[in-house]
Amino acid sequence: MAQSVAPSSERNLGDQEASLALRARRKGLIFGAAELHDFLIDNAEYQAAFLRDCDLLVPMNELKFYDLRPTSPDFDFTAADWMVSFASSNHLLLRGHTLVWGLAFPPWAKLVPPGRDAERLLVDHIWAVAGRYRGLVHSWDVVNEAIEPYDGRPDFLRKSYWLNALGEDYIELAFRTAAEADPHALLCYNDYQLERIGAYDNQRREGTLKLLDKLVSKGVPIHAVGIQSHLPPNRNWFAEKEFMSFLDSVHRMGLRTIISEFEVGEESLPLDIAERDALVAQIAEDFLTPVLTHPSLSMVVTWGLSDRYTYRITYSPRSDGFPPRPLPIDAAFQRKPLWWAMARALDNAPGRAPLLGPLVTNPPGSQNSPG
Ligand code: G3I
Repeated sequence: MAQSVAPSSERNLGDQEASLALRARRKGLIFGAAELHDFLIDNAEYQAAFLRDCDLLVPMNELKFYDLRPTSPDFDFTAADWMVSFASSNHLLLRGHTLVWGLAFPPWAKLVPPGRDAERLLVDHIWAVAGRYRGLVHSWDVVNEAIEPYDGRPDFLRKSYWLNALGEDYIELAFRTAAEADPHALLCYNDYQLERIGAYDNQRREGTLKLLDKLVSKGVPIHAVGIQSHLPPNRNWFAEKEFMSFLDSVHRMGLRTIISEFEVGEESLPLDIAERDALVAQIAEDFLTPVLTHPSLSMVVTWGLSDRYTYRITYSPRSDGFPPRPLPIDAAFQRKPLWWAMARALDNAPGRAPLLGPLVTNPPGSQNSPG
């Protein structure tokens, strides 16, 4: 059954009056979070916390090439299928992450020769995955993190397996294939470090705009840009003027923007929890408040929802060994200062037309929005 691509008004919102999802809906925005299958399955308490605040789910790893096909060309869709059905049965929108990326890419696939074999690998993979969930996905990160100025190319493209095997046109091929495999999903390009001060971020913004301009001018089917927004543990890094101009440029191309992996890294912030939480909340609010005023902004997705399960526990642990606190709800699923900072930023945002897929014509939360 094709899933509505607008938050369903049927979802029991209970005392959700204050939920982040409802605050977002009121402004034509969508709020959701990424999470892992292993932390949601058989965890009724966390599922309830997730459904309290989220209108959208991103399977954090389950739809990645490595996680679907770790040791051979054979697929294991078990975890991905569970995540898709969890979203569908709870009327959550589903965001697919990610069809084509140079990382989370298994050793056997790296041995596929460049040229026709690599093209076959890319096209067949996208058909197998996006085709399987056709009509159930609100938006796909079709290509992830294709920009890397340090790789030295004048176009700042990353020298990934895909670029080396197929040349820069792998990106166009990925988007055109995804559009055929699932004509209902919105198609996104997703990348990181587009919001900071410095030559590196300037090159990342420049490279991304170059790439987007080329795709759009060739009529490649692309609808939005995911800006990961893994914010650093300090202040005065935000290149607000340059970033808002970047959003203007993307919007002028007819594309929407998504805060796609929001969190506040806090590994170097003080140990004291009250102090640390307050700083994290301030860093978040200083960023989200201006950014959510932009008319292109359509969605805010946190990279995890609860500190209990943040990937940073293993990925970037604190030097003092204490648990990181980068997310809006704590390890006991209670709201933190960051939650309230996000709520304020959503409440202060102007309204805009919601980012609806071709499936739905009614705005989210409207009387007759589909269930
Ligand atoms: O589940 C296995 C476990 O059984 C094993 O013992 C352990 C050690 O080998 O690995 C576990 O799998 C890890 C998985 O996360 C689940 O925790 C993988 O090794 C590890 O590579 C994987 O990392 C993920 C990473 O992307 C690479 O896919 C992170 O969870 C995930 O948060 C991170 O997310 C990325 C986005 O996709 C793109 N943007 C940046 C973002 C953060 O790096």
